[in-house]
Amino acid sequence: MTQSTFKRLLLGITGGIATYKAAELVRLLVRQGVEVQVVMTQAACQFITPVTMQALSGRPVFTDLWDNRIDNGMAHIEFTRDVDAILIAPASADFLAKLAQGRADDLLSTLCLARACPLMVAPAMNVHMWKNAATQRNLALLKKDGALIFGPGSGEQACGDEGFGRMLDPEVLLEALEASQQPKLLAGKKLLITAGPTFEAIDAARGITNLSSGKMGYAIARAALEMGAEVTLISGQTSQIPPYGANLIKVTSAQQMLTAVMANLVSKDVFIAVAAVADYYVLNPSEQKIKKDAHILTLELAPNPDILANVMNLPDPPFCAGFAAESENLIEYAEHKRRRKNLPLLAANLIQDAFGGDDSELVLLDDKGAHPLPRAPKIILARQLLRHLARMLPKKPKD
Ligand SMILES: Cc1cc2nc3c(=O)[nH]c(=O)nc-3n(C[C@H](O)[C@H](O)[C@H](O)COP(=O)(O)O)c2cc1C
Repeated sequence: MTQSTFKRLLLGITGGIATYKAAELVRLLVRQGVEVQVVMTQAACQFITPVTMQALSGRPVFTDLWDNRIDNGMAHIEFTRDVDAILIAPASADFLAKLAQGRADDLLSTLCLARACPLMVAPAMNVHMWKNAATQRNLALLKKDGALIFGPGSGEQACGDEGFGRMLDPEVLLEALEASQQPKLLAGKKLLITAGPTFEAIDAARGITNLSSGKMGYAIARAALEMGAEVTLISGQTSQIPPYGANLIKVTSAQQMLTAVMANLVSKDVFIAVAAVADYYVLNPSEQKIKKDAHILTLELAPNPDILANVMNLPDPPFCAGFAAESENLIEYAEHKRRRKNLPLLAANLIQDAFGGDDSELVLLDDKGAHPLPRAPKIILARQLLRHLARMLPKKPKD
């Protein structure tokens, strides 16, 4: 699992059904190497016990302003001294109101008032509580005061109602937390990204594909969203979960991918071709499943279109970046490909690194030379690649 950019978080849990999600949230944060200090309101303790949160966070949980376990008796100040942020998840309607008013009548609200760090809030409540003018007023005040608000999501609620008010699921909330920490280097930019393998049908059940997992393309889409870009992700068949906020278009074959790319290029600032596109397709695929017999079966293959070349050859192409996976002579072959395709930026990796794994190693090639990115999780490499790319972009976005 990728390390978090946060070192220490204070997690405030308030009273609502979604406290059960806070338990999973703590587990995931701890797995990402974050020290989590949990503080709960009295109402939160009605829903989930401090013991559960203590077991998951590995630290005593505090609930009381008058707790004397801290030497100087001032937990409400001590706990905020060296945390990167306070995250309230779930945040009840009542607690949003308290925060908006700057009240300090229990440990958690006093901590929030005494803090010198960012405040992040993940609201969770019934849809009517959420829509209530008072809640929306409190929320607007909190935003104005600089708090970051994550969610809520929409869907079926514990009370049987349907609509906005669900706390974001822990994984999605973690993604949003990380995203909030990334520099918005691609704000206002529109990116088109291809990812995953293509599949070229042989018959109704079989086809030619490759080992691309889609992880790198999806990581780049996620990193681009984190940096403030608008992202369209055209993907071959993968089991990856699309990043929250991406416009996902699913395709199967190389020809479908080309059609989708060309149809979605309008006003894009950047095109990044990460997909492992099959070089060949089967000329006459059978509509029915081919029956096995004793004869040798010959497939006739024809070359697929080169999607990146099609985009590069447009009269006014977006900024284009490609990927090259080689099994040997990485830099030499990849740089040859970059020059042949006249690409400003190409990311090269070895086949054994490129497919399937969560980690990889990249070399970025541009007119200034080779820039190696050492082995790291793909999301980290994706952020590094996009930081490099952002520096190469023309200043003015396309209309
Ligand atoms: C069963 C039950 C479920 C509740 N769920 C929520 C909820 O999801 N969101 C919310 O804002 N309030 C919810 N409430 C109301 C809060 O628990 C109540 O406003 C409480 O005072 C909040 O205290 P706190 O903000 O100090 O944690 C619920 C109450 C009950 C009895």
